[in-house]
Amino acid sequence: MNCAVLPGEKGHVRLADAPVPSSPSGNEVLVGMAYAPINPADLLAIDGRYSFDLPHDQPLGAEGAGWVEAVGDAVADLRPGDLVMPLSRGNWCAQRLLPRAHLMALPAGFDSMQASMLRINPPTAHLLLRHSGVRPGDALIQNGAGSVVAHWVRTFAARMDIRIIDVVRRPHSAMSHALLDGDDLAERARAASGGRPIRAALDCVAGTATGRLASCLAPGGRLMLFGHLSGEPIQVRSQLLTGGGLSIVGFSLRPAEAALGAEGLHAMFGELAESYAADPPSLPVRAIVPLSRVEEGIALARVGGSGRVLFDLTQ
Ligand SMILES: NC(=O)c1ccc[n+]([C@@H]2O[C@H](COP(=O)([O-])OP(=O)(O)OC[C@H]3O[C@@H](n4cnc5c(N)ncnc54)[C@H](OP(=O)(O)O)[C@@H]3O)[C@@H](O)[C@H]2O)c1
Repeated sequence: MNCAVLPGEKGHVRLADAPVPSSPSGNEVLVGMAYAPINPADLLAIDGRYSFDLPHDQPLGAEGAGWVEAVGDAVADLRPGDLVMPLSRGNWCAQRLLPRAHLMALPAGFDSMQASMLRINPPTAHLLLRHSGVRPGDALIQNGAGSVVAHWVRTFAARMDIRIIDVVRRPHSAMSHALLDGDDLAERARAASGGRPIRAALDCVAGTATGRLASCLAPGGRLMLFGHLSGEPIQVRSQLLTGGGLSIVGFSLRPAEAALGAEGLHAMFGELAESYAADPPSLPVRAIVPLSRVEEGIALARVGGSGRVLFDLTQ
C-alpha cells in the first residue's frame, strides 16, 4: 500500500491508496519517503489559491525527503540508504519512483527532518536576492521577517555584504532588531540602513504593506513581490514609480527555476548543498503527525506559529 494525500473539495484533502511504484529501471530511483512539511504553498494549493494549476489525481506536497530504497541499473551515484530530497511535487505519500535528475542527494549524516524543509525556501531566497539586483555594500528591506524565506535571505545576504532590514507585523521575541511595520517605516528604515542605499525590497505581504516597503527604497530601487499574506491587492503611491523610478517585479519560484534550465538548476542546488554542508540548518519543527491524521496536521499549520508541521511518512 502507498498511502497518499490528494487534493479534495476546496479547502480539504483526501487520503488514498496510490499505486505501489514498480522496481526502478534505467535512471529511476525508488524513494521511501521520510518526512514532508506543510508549506504555505500547500495550503494555497488545498484552498485553490495557488498561482498554478496542479493535477487533481496526484499527491500533494511541495517538499519532502526520504531514503533511497533501490536504483535502476543506470544510476551509479546513489545507493540504498542515501538521503535524498525530491525536486518535484507530490511528496505526501509513502513511496516515490523518480528519475535521478529529480533528486538532490544530501551528505551522509544529514538530518532527514531538516532535509525535508529545503526544497522551496532556500532556492526562493537565493533567486530573490539574485533577481533583486542588490550588490555588496547595499541594504535590502524585507517584510514577513519572521518567515523561513526571510531566514534564508539573511543567511545568504550575510555572505554577500548586504545589510538586511527586517520588518515584522508584531513584536517577535527572537527578533528584537526588526522594525514594526507602520506609517513611518521609511524614516526608521533609513536610520537602520547605516547609510547604505536601500536598493531592493522583498514583499510577501502585499496590500498597503507594499506601499510602505516601496517608500523605503532608494531612487531606481526594485521591489520583488513574491507573496500575498494580507490577501489584499497592492497599494503603492504612483509617484514612487514615476519620480522615484522604482520598479515592482513579481516573482515565483517555478518560472524562475525553469528559466535557469537543467544546468543552471543543477549548479544552484550544488551551491546550496555546499552551504548546508558548511553550516547545517536547524529550522524549527512545531509538530510531527502521521499522514493518517492529515486534516489535523493541516488545521495546525493554518494557525500561525513558529516552526513547520511535518508529516511522518514512515507510519
Ligand atoms: N513566490 C514564490 O515562489 C514563493 C516561494 C516560497 C514562499 N513564498 C511566500 O513567501 C511567504 C513566506 O513563506 P514561508 O514559508 O517562509 O512562511 P512561514 O515560515 O510560514 O512564515 C510566515 C510569516 O509571515 C508572517 N505573516 C503572516 N501573515 C501576515 C500578514 N498578514 N502580514 C504580515 N506578515 C504576515 C508571519 O508573521 P507572524 O510571525 O507575525 O505570525 C510569519 O512570520 C509566503 O507568503 C509564501 O507563500 C513564495
